[in-house]
Amino acid sequence: MREWIEQPAAGDLPPEKELINLLLTEDEELLSCLYARARRMREEHYGRKVYIRGLIEFTNFCRNNCYYCGIRRDNKQTERYRLSEQQIMECAQEGYFLGFRTFVLQGGEDPWYNTERVERLVRMLKEHFPDCAVTLSVGECSRETYRRWREAGADRYLLRHETADPGHYGMLHPPELSWENRMRCLNDLKELGYQVGCGFMVGSPGQTAAHLARELRFLKEFRPHMVGLGPFIPQKDTKFAQETAGTLSMTLKCLALVRLILPDVLLPATTALGTIAGNGTELGILAGANVVMPNLTPAEERRKYTLYDHKACTGSEAAEGLAELKGRMEKIGYYVSAERGDWKGEKNDV
Ligand code: 5AD
Repeated sequence: MREWIEQPAAGDLPPEKELINLLLTEDEELLSCLYARARRMREEHYGRKVYIRGLIEFTNFCRNNCYYCGIRRDNKQTERYRLSEQQIMECAQEGYFLGFRTFVLQGGEDPWYNTERVERLVRMLKEHFPDCAVTLSVGECSRETYRRWREAGADRYLLRHETADPGHYGMLHPPELSWENRMRCLNDLKELGYQVGCGFMVGSPGQTAAHLARELRFLKEFRPHMVGLGPFIPQKDTKFAQETAGTLSMTLKCLALVRLILPDVLLPATTALGTIAGNGTELGILAGANVVMPNLTPAEERRKYTLYDHKACTGSEAAEGLAELKGRMEKIGYYVSAERGDWKGEKNDV
């Protein structure tokens, strides 16, 4: 194991058994080797910069019913909201002023925000903020819709695959959602020239170390530009309310392994990680992450975007807390970058 950590030929995976042992190990010395190697790898590609993304959670209406998610359609406890075009532009304006050069429009699959309306938003954002990247994260759509948004100027797209195992996908989602369609979407997005982010939850119900090994093999094959991964956290109004959350240590191991497998990937220390541990963001960065996504959503709506319980949305999780985030990064020897933070790899063939 140690040999592979010291010398992973870029992108190579260790044999299955070793990989699973690595995922399961609690050997402190081995783990500090793993994190140190992941940091070196990220520094070779991105230095000590931390890229920031302004997250605008613009609607929590969703037509889907994913079993783990607090904003699923059938959750009657969720107070629904939808930001207007004008509110979204105001969020972006504030974000721009604070120094953000990427806006992430994230929402449930809200039929009101259809192809035309999102297309208009993308055009407006690109027109007002031509030096900024626009990232969309609004779920599964047709190739034609993705094409139109790309043509309107969208640069990146986040769509977690949630699990690389179709059987496991079926345990986490109702039958009308399929793993095959998720893959179709991810492939379309890549072919259309987006910088594409996929990702999964760590510790989702039914997940084993063998599943995580499979996640890593999947990532190596799909070669996304970004990977979003964070611990599963139960939400009280879902069928997984009584399940246990993913752990900090497993999440950190996954981050480090993803960095070793995809050296130039853009890898956020996610809100979920910051939610299960007060210093989760720092630990994520120290395990190879290089992106943080503070929340730009207006405070009143922010608390309604309840994917899971106790979701962090203040302090350095909030865009207005950027000064705090900067301080925290500097304390561990990193610094918040003012750049757009595009993917820096070689051309990524589809
Ligand atoms: N715990 C952790 N992450 C969750 N997500 C949704 N529900 C939860 C939860 N209960 C993640 C999913 C989704 C992303 C927007 O949030 O991976 O893709």
